[in-house]
Amino acid sequence: MTPIRDRKVHDSFRRSLPSYSAEASPQRRIARLLVQRLLRVCPTTNFRSLFEFGCGTGHLTEPLHQALQIERTTLNDLVADVAQDIVVPFEAFIGGAVETVAWPADVDLIASASALQWLEDPDALLRRLAEHLAPHGWLALSTFGPQQFVELQKLGSDAGAPGYITPDRIGAALSADLRVVDLGAATFKLWFDSPTEVLRHLRRTGVNGRASGRWTRRDLEQFSQAYVDRFAVAGRVPLTYHPVWVIATKP
Ligand SMILES: C[S@@+](CC[C@H](N)C(=O)[O-])C[C@H]1O[C@@H](n2cnc3c(N)ncnc32)[C@H](O)[C@@H]1O
Repeated sequence: MTPIRDRKVHDSFRRSLPSYSAEASPQRRIARLLVQRLLRVCPTTNFRSLFEFGCGTGHLTEPLHQALQIERTTLNDLVADVAQDIVVPFEAFIGGAVETVAWPADVDLIASASALQWLEDPDALLRRLAEHLAPHGWLALSTFGPQQFVELQKLGSDAGAPGYITPDRIGAALSADLRVVDLGAATFKLWFDSPTEVLRHLRRTGVNGRASGRWTRRDLEQFSQAYVDRFAVAGRVPLTYHPVWVIATKP
């Protein structure tokens, strides 16, 4: 049976599907940058097979297919309904939590963007990656670091994901069989007219699936006031994004 935790995350992302692609411009930008980073260091653009987990509506799948020639694409997401929104051709879709589903073997390219942070134990998944990669295979992965949505964390909110991770922890968790060629992090802020707009952005991108309970009007007012008091600059409020990435190969 699916744990309640996964069910809440699933339902939240499923609800956000109509708005996700339009609202998730940071994730779109992060996915495109990941592909650019891969192209900078990877000597080939031809891959026999791709396995992408947490593919969502295809923000990473699309630029991968534009930049590379891939014979067989296997996609995974917790939310099976995303498959109908993906415009590039793919050979297989595996619905379910990537920690529990069967993975393809001997993959040439394992890729993922903005999904690993949803796993309770991201280190465990990172440790597994090398065994599914073929010799000379590549890994291109981005997720989020501990400064992600730092404003919400400072206000005591439990919205956001359980598995934020630093580049150092990624490097430590990856198997010694992999050679890391690019590992890094960046931060940027999105600016909103009000805390209510921040909450709307979170809802429309589905990333508030773990937030507990329903808020009263008073909860909302208190949250908004605290957000403005602590973070507002010139009448606007920020929301921090902290993408972290790794490109590695199995020599
Ligand atoms: C923020 S979206 C990112 C989607 C896409 N990769 C992108 O860059 O826009 C996170 C995705 O991870 C999926 N996800 C969350 N937990 C997952 C899990 N345990 N296994 C597989 N997918 C998961 C969600 O359903 C959602 O589609």
